[in-house]
Amino acid sequence: MNASHALTPKIDRAFPIDSVREAFPTLARTAPLVLFDNAAGAQVPKVVLDAVSSHLLDRNVQRGGRYPMSQAVDSAIAQARRKIAAFLNAEDPDEVCFGMNATSFIRLVSLAIGQGLAGAPRRRLILTEIDHEANIATWLALRVQGAEIAWWRMRPDGRLHLDDLSPLLDERTRLVACTAASNALGSITDLAGVSRLAHAVGAEVFVDAVHYAPHAPTDVKAWDCDYLVCSGYKIFAPHMGFLWGRRSALQALPTFREDFIPDAPPFKVEAGTFIYENVAGMAAALDYLGDLGARLEPQSRDPLRSAMNGIAAYERGLAEKMLKVLRDAEATVFGVGDGADLTHRLPTFGFTLPWREPDRLVDDMAAEGFALRDGHMYAPRLIRRLGLAFESGLIRASLCHYNSLDEIERFAETLMRMRRR
Ligand SMILES: Cc1ncc(COP(=O)(O)O)c(C=O)c1O
Repeated sequence: MNASHALTPKIDRAFPIDSVREAFPTLARTAPLVLFDNAAGAQVPKVVLDAVSSHLLDRNVQRGGRYPMSQAVDSAIAQARRKIAAFLNAEDPDEVCFGMNATSFIRLVSLAIGQGLAGAPRRRLILTEIDHEANIATWLALRVQGAEIAWWRMRPDGRLHLDDLSPLLDERTRLVACTAASNALGSITDLAGVSRLAHAVGAEVFVDAVHYAPHAPTDVKAWDCDYLVCSGYKIFAPHMGFLWGRRSALQALPTFREDFIPDAPPFKVEAGTFIYENVAGMAAALDYLGDLGARLEPQSRDPLRSAMNGIAAYERGLAEKMLKVLRDAEATVFGVGDGADLTHRLPTFGFTLPWREPDRLVDDMAAEGFALRDGHMYAPRLIRRLGLAFESGLIRASLCHYNSLDEIERFAETLMRMRRR
C-alpha cells in the first residue's frame, strides 16, 4: 500500500463507525461490496425496515377513519411531520408536505408559481449551472408563461459565489432556485447568503436539499429559504419525498386541489394518497439519526443536529482522505479540491482519470466489488460547462457516513492496481 494512503489524523475517531455499519443490514448482506454510489440512493437502517413492515402489518388502512387502526395512521403521519420539522429546524409541522419524490414537488411548486407570471413585473427566475436537471427543466418550461431566465454561473473552483448572484438580482426577480449541494461535485451553496440577497429585492428562494440533507444539518431557519425539497431515499429511508414551505408561501401558492381538500398546508400541496409506510420509514430513519446524535453528544438537547454535525465532521475526514487518493491516481477532481476548505464540500467526488474512460473505470471497479457511477449525473449543463462529453461524463464516488476509511483504503489499492495494468 502507498504510504500516503495511511489513515488521516483528522478523522473523527469518536464516530462509532462500527456500530453505524451494523445498523444497516445491507452492508453485511452485500459485503465485501463497497457502496460509493450513495448519492443515487442510500441504504436503510434496520429500524426503517421494522417501521415499514410494522405499518404494513399493523395499520395498512386509509387515514381519517373512526377506528383505532386508521387513527394510528393519522397519528403516525402527524408524528412524521413533527420529526421532519425537527430535522429541518422548522417551527411548524404543517409546513411539511408528503409526496412521491423531489422532482414532482419541484414541478408542483414551479407550475403554481408559473400561474402568476404572465404580465407580472416579477418574472425573472434565477437558475444555476450546477443543479440537478430536476431543479432546472421545470423552471425553464415556465418561459411560455413569460418567465425570463438568468443563470447563476459556477466559478472554476466548482462553487457558486454570492458575488456572481448579486448582479442578477433586482425587483424583477421572482425566485432563485438552487441546490444546497451539487450531486455531481459535492460543492455546498451558501444558502443563508442567497436568501439575504434574494429577500433584499423581494424574491423567494427555492432550495433543492436532496443531495445535501444526508450529510450535514439542514436548517430552514438559518437558511431563511422559502421552499425546500428532500428525498427520503437519500436520507436512509424508502422512496418518498417531502416539501417544506414557509407557511405564508404555501398558503399563497395556487395549487390544484379537489373540492373537499382544505385550502391550507400541508393538505393543499399533497396530491392524493402518499405512501404511508414509506413516511413511517422516513420517521424511523430520523429516529436512527436521533439515536446516533444522542450517542455522539449525550447531553444534547437537539440530537438530530448533533447527529448531522457529527456526520459532517466524520465525512470531512473521509473527504480529505479520498482527495489524497484521487490526487495519487492523477485524477482531475472537479470542485473543491485537495488543500481547499473542505467545509465547502460533501464527500461526493466528480472526477476523470487520464488513464481510463469513465464507463470502463466504473465497469472495472464493479468487477472488483465497488459501486460507483459514471455519466452526466442528471446535470448535463454542468457536464458541458466542465468541458466533458455528455455521453461519457465523469466518474462519481459518493460517500456517506456509513462508509469507512478502510473502504477508501481498499478503493485506493484497487485504483492503483488498475492504473499499473
Ligand atoms: C440534487 C438532486 N435533486 C433532485 C433529485 C431528484 O430527486 P427525486 O428522485 O426524488 O425526484 C436528485 C436525485 O438524484 C438529486 O440528486
